[in-house]
This record gives sequence, structure tokens and C-alpha cells, in this order.
Amino acid sequence: MVKSIGPKKIRTAVFISGTGSNLKNLIKFSLKKKSPIEIILIISNNPKAKGLEYSKIYKIKKKIYNYNKKKISETKTLKDLKSNDINLICLAGFMKILSKDFINNFKGKILNIHPSLLPKYKGLNTHDRAIHNKEKYSGCTVHLVNSKLDSGKIILQKKVKLSKKETVSSLQKKILKHEHILYPKAISKLFANP
Ligand code: GRF
Repeated sequence: MVKSIGPKKIRTAVFISGTGSNLKNLIKFSLKKKSPIEIILIISNNPKAKGLEYSKIYKIKKKIYNYNKKKISETKTLKDLKSNDINLICLAGFMKILSKDFINNFKGKILNIHPSLLPKYKGLNTHDRAIHNKEKYSGCTVHLVNSKLDSGKIILQKKVKLSKKETVSSLQKKILKHEHILYPKAISKLFANP
């Protein structure tokens, strides 16, 4: 009997700047038979990003551009994305803001994970602000990226309860665990075959 070859997976690039726990988690997800994505490329603006080690471990191509001169780095990145036939970008702790031009090149094909219940707490230091404001809940959001910071269409959110003694570090850990569940879930929601 001829083994049937499953449907083609979406060629995906993941952009990181640091630890890369979401990257690792997305790679593991991508290796599952049912996953709609395949991770082809890792982009980092930070040569010291810990997450770059997953390039070696999982044999995935990596490219590093410093993004100090954004236009130049974006042009190089776009060239890599085109030459690798990339069809989806997953931002995962990427700390640079992409230009409108760049985003227009990948309209509707860039996802981001943000550690708050958007539209609350766009930008940085989300946990600090949530605790300071005595929020009962925070959480994480997977959304499409448009040219306004953390403002694209929301795909999925997970609400997380703050404890009375919550610290930035405990909340960050708590929410990160949920990020690792939410990102693959959002990708499946968008692209999974019925
Ligand atoms: C995550 O909390 C993500 O939501 C935020 O940056 C953090 C990245 O963590 N955008 P990691 O590098 O994936 O471990």
C-alpha cells in the first residue's frame, strides 16, 4: 500500500530576541503530525539570544540581524523569508517593532503572543503594571500583527487569576505556561484541517 503523504504544512519563521521558550514549544508542536506548521527559519535581532540554541538542537536555519538600522535589517529578513518560501511569521518574544512596510509584505500572516489580556496593557512591563493596578486577572493573547502596536485582531486569549502575593516573576512564570498552550491552540484554530 502506498503511504499517503499528509497535506503540506505552512512554512513558518519564528522571530525571537531572548530565551525562546515559546520558540521551543512551537518547534515541538510543529513536529506533531497534526500540526499545520513546519518551522523553517529562526530570525533573531540578538546574537546572544538563548533561544538560538534551538537552531542547532533541531537543525533549523537561523539568521541574525541587529535591527539597529531597521530598514536594512528588514530588507535582509524579507529576502530570507522570500527565498525560504515562508508563509507565516510567528513573533515569540521579538523585542523590535516591525515597520508598516514590512508588515504589509506579510499582511494577515504575522502572529504575535503578548503577555496580557489585550487591549489592556499593550507594550512592555505588562505584569508589573497589572500587579500595580491590583488587577484580579491578567493573561495572554495571540493576535494578528498590524501596523499599530499590539492591536491586531485577537485570535485567542487565556485569562489567569492573580494571587494576593503575586510578584512580577511569579506572574511571568504562571502566564508563560499558558502561553505555551495558547500559541499552538491559536495556530490550530487558524489553520488546522477539518
Ligand atoms: C513572552 O512572555 C511573550 O509573551 C513576550 O515575551 C516573552 C518571551 O518569552 N512577548 P520566551 O523568549 O518565548 O521564553
